[in-house]
Amino acid sequence: MHAEYGGVVPELASRDHIRRALPLTQHVLRAAGRTLQDIDGIAYTQGPGLAGALLVGTSIAESLAFTLDVPTVGVHHLEGHLLAPLLEENPPAFPFVALLVSGGHTQLMRVSGIGDYELLGDTLDDAAGEAFDKTAKLLGLGYPGGPAVSKLAALGKPGRFKLPRPLLNSDDLNFSFSGLKTAVLTLTNQHALTDETKADIAYEFQEAVTEVLTAKCMAALRETGMDNLIVSGGVGANARLRERLTQAAQRRLCKVSYPRLEFCTDNGAMIAFAGAMRMLHAQQDDYAFTVRPRWDLAELKAP
Ligand code: KG4
Ligand code: ZN
Repeated sequence: MHAEYGGVVPELASRDHIRRALPLTQHVLRAAGRTLQDIDGIAYTQGPGLAGALLVGTSIAESLAFTLDVPTVGVHHLEGHLLAPLLEENPPAFPFVALLVSGGHTQLMRVSGIGDYELLGDTLDDAAGEAFDKTAKLLGLGYPGGPAVSKLAALGKPGRFKLPRPLLNSDDLNFSFSGLKTAVLTLTNQHALTDETKADIAYEFQEAVTEVLTAKCMAALRETGMDNLIVSGGVGANARLRERLTQAAQRRLCKVSYPRLEFCTDNGAMIAFAGAMRMLHAQQDDYAFTVRPRWDLAELKAP
C-alpha cells in the first residue's frame, strides 16, 4: 500500500489500522487458543510515532480493557525493541549494551534494567534503516529498502566501488549516515544502472554501514566494560550485520544476542512483553486515550 509512495503515508496507515486491528486481534486469539476472558491486561504502543496510528491502537486497547475490566500499560516503542531479545530462550542478563537500529533510530544504549536506559551514542542525521531505504530508492528497489538492498548486495562484487565509513574513527559513539546516501547518489549519477552495477553499489553500501555499526558496538563494549551486546530493530535482521557482529564479539570474548527475525522488525510480541514486565510491578494507566508522538526513551522510569 505504501510502496508506490516510497514511504509510509500517515493517513493511509491509520485508516488501514482501524480496518485491521480487531479482525487481527480475533485471529491472534484464535491462533493462540485463547479468548478475551483469558486476558489479564492490555499493553499498547503509546509512542513515539505517527499520532493517527498511535490513536487507533490506544483507543482500541483502552476501550477493550475498560470493557474487560483489566489494566492497561502504554509502552514506548523502542523499549519494546530493547527488551525483544529477552523473549528468547537463555535471555541475556542485565546490564548489557544495546544497539537499536531501525528505520527511525540508530542508538547505542546502556541497559541496566527495565526502564533504566542511558544513551551512549546516536545518529547525528539519518538512521541506518533510513539510509537503507534511501539507497533502495536510488537503486530503483521497492520499500522497505533494507531487505531489497541486502538481497541485491549478495550478488555484488567486492572492490569495484569505495564508499566512506562515516565517523568510523571519531572518538565518540555517534553515527552519521546522510553522507553515505549522498555518495550513493553520486555513484548512481556517474554510472549506467545495470543490474550488475546496482548489485555492486548495494554490496559496498552494506559493507560501509555494517562496518561502522560493528566498530561502534565494539567501542561501546570496551568503554562500558560490558561483555554482553544485544541487537534490535529492523536493521538487526540484516544477515551481514549479524555475521560481522558475531565475529567481532567472539574476538573480544563477548556475547551477542538477537531476537529471532520476526521479533527484530516491528511486532506486537515485544510490546506485550515490555507491558507485562511493567504490569508485574503493578504499573497501570488510566483509561485516557493518551498518545506520545514524541517521547524520549531516556525519560522512561523503572516501574
Ligand atoms: O524496527 P523496524 O521494523 O521499524 C521501525 O521502527 O523503524 O525497522 C524498519 C527498518 C526499515 O528501514 C527497513 O529497511 C530496515 O529496518 N530493515 C533492514 C532489513 N530488514 C529491515 N535493513 C537492512 N537489512 C535488512 N535485512
Ligand atoms: Zn520499530
